[in-house]
Amino acid sequence: MAYTRDQIYQVLEELGIRNWMRNAQVVGNDIILDIVSPSPAMHERKRLEIALKNAFKENLPEANLTLNISVEVEEKNPNEIKGSELPGVKNIIAVASGKGGVGKSTVSANLAISLANMGFKVGVLDADIYGPSMPIMFDCQDARPYSVEVNGKTKIKPVEAYGIKILSIGFFADTDQAIVWRGPMAAKALNQMIRDAHWGDLDFLLIDLPPGTGDIHLSIVQQVPITGAVVVSTPQTIALADARKGVGMFQMEAINVPVLGIVENMAYFTPEELPNNKYYIFGQNGAKHLAEQISVPFLGEIPIVQSIREAADVGRPAALQEGTIVAEVYKNIARNTVQSLVERNTTLPPTEAVRITTMAGCSAKN
Ligand SMILES: Nc1ncnc2c1ncn2[C@@H]1O[C@H](COP(=O)(O)OP(=O)(O)OP(=O)(O)O)[C@@H](O)[C@H]1O
Ligand SMILES: [Mg+2]
Repeated sequence: MAYTRDQIYQVLEELGIRNWMRNAQVVGNDIILDIVSPSPAMHERKRLEIALKNAFKENLPEANLTLNISVEVEEKNPNEIKGSELPGVKNIIAVASGKGGVGKSTVSANLAISLANMGFKVGVLDADIYGPSMPIMFDCQDARPYSVEVNGKTKIKPVEAYGIKILSIGFFADTDQAIVWRGPMAAKALNQMIRDAHWGDLDFLLIDLPPGTGDIHLSIVQQVPITGAVVVSTPQTIALADARKGVGMFQMEAINVPVLGIVENMAYFTPEELPNNKYYIFGQNGAKHLAEQISVPFLGEIPIVQSIREAADVGRPAALQEGTIVAEVYKNIARNTVQSLVERNTTLPPTEAVRITTMAGCSAKN
């Protein structure tokens, strides 16, 4: 039996969500529905899915329904919010992990690009004193930030690449030198980089933290006015245990930084020639389950894709390739991150955010 679009509209109408439908494909009794919900909370999405399934079962019982539910991030009035205490910088988001090498820096770089693509003004502070990655990931290894006079004060001008403002400890010190830094000193240097830089107006300043949850991290997260944290993990048990510690660090009473969510990186491998095959090399849904267990939002999963690694190595984050699966994956994570911020009622991005059009490469190359 073949259903008509009108029958589908009628079901949606009854649920009061007719205008949430973006697309409907009907082939016989196979129905594929794309719904965009303005209500992003995970449980709301689940509720919507259940309501739709029930309504179709009742009204179009033969239908074989496939639902694609996505969420439109609603921007709210920025005046409601607490926000970062740094003038001009609305949100400071720390990207952390317990374990090293799980993809914090890659996530930071690509999240920055995706947020910029959404129209936000974005900066990245590379706080990894052990091994700064942003100069490579944004192809700015040789850049040296210069100083500018702002209201009679000398400020550091961040380097700019693909529309993102970047400062890295790697621009100021040799990596070998940086390695001997201790917690308070590192925190002081970072604080200076944050406060003495001329960031201009930013919706988001992402901080790519070094791996771990030691003294250095505690000093940094205590001294820097962080709005929220994103914790990155791979699905294997050993990384999850460290991610849990990472979340715990932000939730300590003395720190009390809201955890915006967990990102599962390297969630599965898909060979290019077999795009429907997913190999869960490190185990399946580990980070998703952890997020559920500790009641922290799950922001999304990123597959292992060769182009992500290659793009990182050549200094052109993969999310710049708009229209690719990788860009979509990061876009989704960026949306969920913004949404998580919105739900925590912290600084909301302004509605007048101007889309950044200058996606040129590094601005201050020597
Ligand atoms: N989803 C992915 N697919 C393929 N390669 C990835 C992916 N995520 C990260 N990588 C690669 O894995 C390596 C480690 O990633 P990255 O440097 O971002 O991790 P990190 O957590 O920042 O490490 P560290 O703890 O040393 O700071 C890099 O070579 C990066 O390109
Ligand atoms: Mg890193």
